[in-house]
Amino acid sequence: MPTKRFDFAYTETPLVELPTSIQTLAEEALKSTTLSYAPFSGFHVGCAVLLDNGEVVVGANQENASYPCGLCAERVALYNASTLHPKAQIVALAIAARNGDSPTEAPVSPCGACRQVLAEYAARQESPIGVVMVGQSRTVWVHDARNLLPFAFRL
Ligand code: THU
Repeated sequence: MPTKRFDFAYTETPLVELPTSIQTLAEEALKSTTLSYAPFSGFHVGCAVLLDNGEVVVGANQENASYPCGLCAERVALYNASTLHPKAQIVALAIAARNGDSPTEAPVSPCGACRQVLAEYAARQESPIGVVMVGQSRTVWVHDARNLLPFAFRL
């Protein structure tokens, strides 16, 4: 039986070593953590989406007393971007978080459901979406969000 393999390259660097446009996007994501409504987890996530028309659209996690009704920052930002700029392509997305008042040391990684949504937007626009996961100690850069979810669900 042939074994198939999936692997992909990513970079892990201090933020200052990434292109300026990505650093700015990361700063927007961190700023957007202040827009989060997270009284239940205290984990404030911010997300910033860069579009090919130059616009940046942000989102933040929105929780609810009925827990499953809440939504992650990434999906708030992506749905916001797609609604406000339906013809634009998504170039990159940055994610940052604060635990209480402190920005996280480790890079913030998108959950599985957000990866599914990212993968479908990338497939729909037929071009990669870069993902920058921001942490205070280091930052992870992934060139194509589709690499984060092999075998993404498709209808
Ligand atoms: N959260 C996000 O906003 N993005 C993710 O990728 C994972 C988790 C939020 C959901 C919830 O409000 C809080 O973080 C704790 O799970």
